[in-house]
Amino acid sequence: MRPTLISLPSFVLTLLVMTHPMLPAQEKVTYWQHVRPILQQHCVTCHSPGEVGPFPLRTFDEVLSHAGFIAHVTRTRYMPPWKADTAFRHFANENVLSEQEIATIAAWVAGGKEEGAAPREPRKSKAVRRTMEPSGLPSIVNDRLRVSMRHAFPIPANNREEFRFFHVPLRNNDTLYVRSIRFIPGNRKLVHHARIMCDTSGLTEGIDGLSAEDPHSVDFQTKPLSDPFLYGWVPGNDRIQFPEGMVKKILPGTALILNIHYSPSQTSQTDSSSVEFELTGPEGKVELKTFTMTEELISNKPFRIAAEERKTFYMLSEPLLEDISLVTIMPHMHLLGKSFKAFSVLPAGDVAPLVHVPDWDFNWQMTYQYPSLLSIPKGSVIYATAEYDNTRSNPRNPNIPSRETGQGWGTKDEMMNLVIYYVPGLGRKP
Ligand code: HEC
Repeated sequence: MRPTLISLPSFVLTLLVMTHPMLPAQEKVTYWQHVRPILQQHCVTCHSPGEVGPFPLRTFDEVLSHAGFIAHVTRTRYMPPWKADTAFRHFANENVLSEQEIATIAAWVAGGKEEGAAPREPRKSKAVRRTMEPSGLPSIVNDRLRVSMRHAFPIPANNREEFRFFHVPLRNNDTLYVRSIRFIPGNRKLVHHARIMCDTSGLTEGIDGLSAEDPHSVDFQTKPLSDPFLYGWVPGNDRIQFPEGMVKKILPGTALILNIHYSPSQTSQTDSSSVEFELTGPEGKVELKTFTMTEELISNKPFRIAAEERKTFYMLSEPLLEDISLVTIMPHMHLLGKSFKAFSVLPAGDVAPLVHVPDWDFNWQMTYQYPSLLSIPKGSVIYATAEYDNTRSNPRNPNIPSRETGQGWGTKDEMMNLVIYYVPGLGRKP
């Protein structure tokens, strides 16, 4: 760990930052010149009206009234929320502040929170434009297919978390070749995260609107799906864009199953979320395949965590039968999950780090996208280790008193999955 600058007296800190090579000497740190660009890039996608962040951070006044708090949550790296260990591996969709950005914010607060002069024509950042996009686009615009939940879901005013399934038929007679997947939460305040699955069996329609805990939904959860993990969405990561020339195939007659987690609400509200696919033709495209490691591959079975037990499970794949290149990776656990690490051991014995989430947070699980293709040669093995905490001292434990927990889709059950999108063959080394 590096020592944090903030533990120094604030005048020293201010001096340090003032003499930082990237900041012109003698120049005051101001909101307009230094702080605003950082917040525009890293914060406003969530901290805007109607978005998931608890208050907006778009204007000087909004930022000023939370200034001390902003310095605190950035110094501790609580914000922006990014759960993967950046020392282990970087990702293309990473939202992390640099040491210098954190120091700049701290210096601004310590130095008197000056506003400075606004540029004459404030440039609108991309992030702002994105949150201001009009909603309710028609279903198909250019190469985009957009589908919405069939009925607006009434989120009850019971101040409880809700986990719901929705069945959204695509009614596609042909295979779809998808370049990007975007999830558009209808109620940005309350949609906490979402998982998109694909079903071609035609047998899951009845799951629409059911709670994950409803005994009637359990039967549907036993149906094998064509894609149990098409996309995992959390706020701030609105889309996954596949690398040029790569497509995800969606079979004819697919229905999407959305598994949406709603935050507790004290007022009755509704949600009508949508999914948008950017489509292309199949010519010259490489198909993205899914490789899912599940509890079956656990080497220290059974996958059961006794009441008041802390337990680590190990999962390993068979040696790969072909060369592959990884595009995305998504670990998945539920509320007892504490940490997740995956790596690959290559035939020559080298270790390739894949992903490490040291402080697992069920609410911020996401699809991590590699900055460029990550080559894993034939004969390599993929390992994963996951820690679970079923004690009462785990604040997220859904069962108090704690009870023995095993594998299941339900939020109070547990899972250990690793979902990898890959293409055959060896790509560029990242
Ligand atoms: C991906 C969405 C997202 C991004 C990006 C994000 N925030 Fe947040 N922020 C949240 C949510 C959700 C909460 C409330 C829940 C929580 O505290 O985890 C929050 C809470 C906060 C809080 C209050 C913390 C508390 O304990 O109540 C502050 C201050 C804050 N954010 C500042 C920032 C700053 C500064 C940035 C950019 C450097 C940022 N956030 C980026 C979603 C986001």
